[in-house]
Amino acid sequence: MRSIMKQTQTKRIVLGLTGGIAAYKTAELARLLVKQNVDVQVAMTEAACRFITPATMQALSGRPVLVNQWDATENSMAHISASRAADAIVIAPATADFIAKLALGLAGDLLSTLCLARDCPLLVAPAMNKQMWENPATQRNIAQLIADGVTILGPACGVQACGEEGMGRMLEAEELARDILAFFQPKLLSGVKVLLTAGPTYEAIDAVRGITNRSSGKMGYAVAQAALELGADVILISGPTALSKPQGAQVEDVTSAAEMFDAVKQHVADADIFIGVAAVADYRAAQVSEQKIKKGEGKLTLELTPNPDILAYVAGLPKPPFCVGFAAESENLREYAEAKRRAKKIPLLAANLAQQAIGSDANELILFDDAGEHVLPHSDKLTLARALLRHAVKLYQQGKQQ
Ligand code: C5P
Repeated sequence: MRSIMKQTQTKRIVLGLTGGIAAYKTAELARLLVKQNVDVQVAMTEAACRFITPATMQALSGRPVLVNQWDATENSMAHISASRAADAIVIAPATADFIAKLALGLAGDLLSTLCLARDCPLLVAPAMNKQMWENPATQRNIAQLIADGVTILGPACGVQACGEEGMGRMLEAEELARDILAFFQPKLLSGVKVLLTAGPTYEAIDAVRGITNRSSGKMGYAVAQAALELGADVILISGPTALSKPQGAQVEDVTSAAEMFDAVKQHVADADIFIGVAAVADYRAAQVSEQKIKKGEGKLTLELTPNPDILAYVAGLPKPPFCVGFAAESENLREYAEAKRRAKKIPLLAANLAQQAIGSDANELILFDDAGEHVLPHSDKLTLARALLRHAVKLYQQGKQQ
């Protein structure tokens, strides 16, 4: 049986390194890409070889590294054949000098020749000192590359190898791997509006205390990221989390379930797909004390009142978007999850064990739909989110055809 987790097909990239200190991050990038089944052919400029050895890159990519265009022993047409075989060329790190060469169409070494001779997309991750980045010449060259259809990844702001601080740091390996994999995702949700809830909610009891839960928001943010990768317009209604916002999503921060409900009601009319990932508190304090409640001698009884069920409300609208729910259970996962899917009248529900899911970076999901159950094996949350969305998109598109 073909796994529901499988990416459509193996992608091949040429990973080009030029001479910058950030080359050490590219070693990790190669490892991460290979781990994600990307076929990586490394090509290095001679300056890059001064920062990291071809032997390291060869060991990590599992292929001999292309360095010298005059080395005819392997393949005298390496600049043509390597770029023809690739689905994309990624330059990381890309120095100011190499960016200038690309902007001018120079082809004085193997890597720049490869870029000029390509018939595939080019992705460039700049890495340089902030003054070099801000220099009008570099900005002009970057603008030229964008106009030529090149994708620029980063750079980021932060402390630089020279000790200065500012724009020009190359993105981290994990960020680059995420962006490169995202680049390859088919844009199945282009023009589709996805509304999501994520994270916990916080229900105030008094001025300083409240009821919340241990949801980190990681799964909801991963689902938002996966939807962005598929080209969706994403609105993320987020409870309090410590996570950085998914780039490209419209994020609305809320605190309580009531605020989350209001935000969802405000956006739901435009939504094509609604995904309730948030761990919404089931109850809130019946009365919130404006002042801190003073400690007394005896017991304190807190009266709780139920919160609205946001997902059930959305699914019950006269013209609901395609709804996806989550269920975190600590026991009887299958039975409770399917019962929940039917009770909330939603076409798709992703169930997980609460003790395994909450706060962790990896998880295991079981999807329930009208056809039965589909297991998404233990994996990191972004990989799971991508698989969940591929499944949701299939059902969403089937529903539209009916
Ligand atoms: O009923 P239960 O809380 O287990 O349902 C979980 C699903 O319902 C999740 O998708 C969650 O985001 C959503 N939910 C909601 N509003 C609530 C409670 C849960 O949207 N008040």
